[in-house]
Amino acid sequence: MRSIADYQNVFQNYLYAHRFDRSPTELYEPVNYILSIGGKRLRPLLALMGCELFTDDLEKALPTAMAVEVFHNFTLLHDDIMDAAPLRRGQPTVHIKYNVNTGILSGDVMLISAYDFLLNTEGSSDLKIALMQIFNKMATEVCEGQQLDMNFEHLNDVTIAEYVRMIELKTSVLIAAAFQMGALIGGATAEVAERLYAFGRHVGIAFQIQDDILDTFGDPEKFGKKVGGDIIQNKKTLLVLTVYESGSPLQRADLQQLMATPTEDEASKIKAVRQIFDAVGVRQLAEKDMGKHLQTAFENLDETPLSIERKIYLKSWANDLMSREK
Ligand code: IPE
Ligand code: IPE
Ligand code: MG
Ligand code: MG
Ligand code: MG
Repeated sequence: MRSIADYQNVFQNYLYAHRFDRSPTELYEPVNYILSIGGKRLRPLLALMGCELFTDDLEKALPTAMAVEVFHNFTLLHDDIMDAAPLRRGQPTVHIKYNVNTGILSGDVMLISAYDFLLNTEGSSDLKIALMQIFNKMATEVCEGQQLDMNFEHLNDVTIAEYVRMIELKTSVLIAAAFQMGALIGGATAEVAERLYAFGRHVGIAFQIQDDILDTFGDPEKFGKKVGGDIIQNKKTLLVLTVYESGSPLQRADLQQLMATPTEDEASKIKAVRQIFDAVGVRQLAEKDMGKHLQTAFENLDETPLSIERKIYLKSWANDLMSREK
């Protein structure tokens, strides 16, 4: 295995060589914009690492790595419209910088382009069909998760189990599928690739819990998104559900009251909700849950025939990911 920076470099060069130099520019400039303003490149990294676990020929996974990153960025364009989000990676979101129609259509063309990259993966038709099936299942599930996320904004009786299922769909299946597809391209058996999918699924759940924590408690200078956005949108994050589960009846009632009242002053709503979160200690409780999912991820990894060195490498990468600030 190489250093994380090395994988990032390989991917960055491929991305740069495949800029969207087409017309009309009104359609493609926002695509290049969103792909050029940064991002952790987590999903392509997983596709490349997954491949290199089984072969030295890393290049084979590049089109699929690109497919998952372009797909991810497509979901961000549409997600930012749905979440009325002004900021992404420290820059204006596409629908704010351009307009909502641009966010929709440039997003659409990215989704189509993701399929094109996937199809450009070298290999047998059996491999291509397997990749396409994994990708389609994943993409459908992301839409299902996004719908649940929006449904939950208007519900007050969401359980933690329902929340975990929702984030599994909206976030973790893509992370898991990126790793699984990379492994299959590298030559893993279907069975081992499934185990790696399970590892990615639980890393993905922990990753989204961390995203929810950062959305409320992150440093605005580093996070790159609007801190408090989830509170304003009445998102049923783990933080909210932990108040429902572990807070006093009064704390629950106060939080429900805040979420039921139309927001007049965003800053004071965020402050009031955070006070309840702090009083209940939701951050620590959510971090504990994150840790449990990471543990389950590691148990799945331990079930694979990978070498101890590789398992240690992947675990240390996942641990580092959990202490991120953006
Ligand atoms: C943002 O994903 C959407 C979530 C699933 C939380 P990332 O946190 O991976 O976003 P970038 O690509 O690094 O900006
Ligand atoms: C991410 O959920 C799920 C997607 C499919 C994009 P969020 O809405 O929490 O992602 P961010 O916080 O906007 O990146
Ligand atoms: Mg969002
Ligand atoms: Mg969202
Ligand atoms: Mg978020």
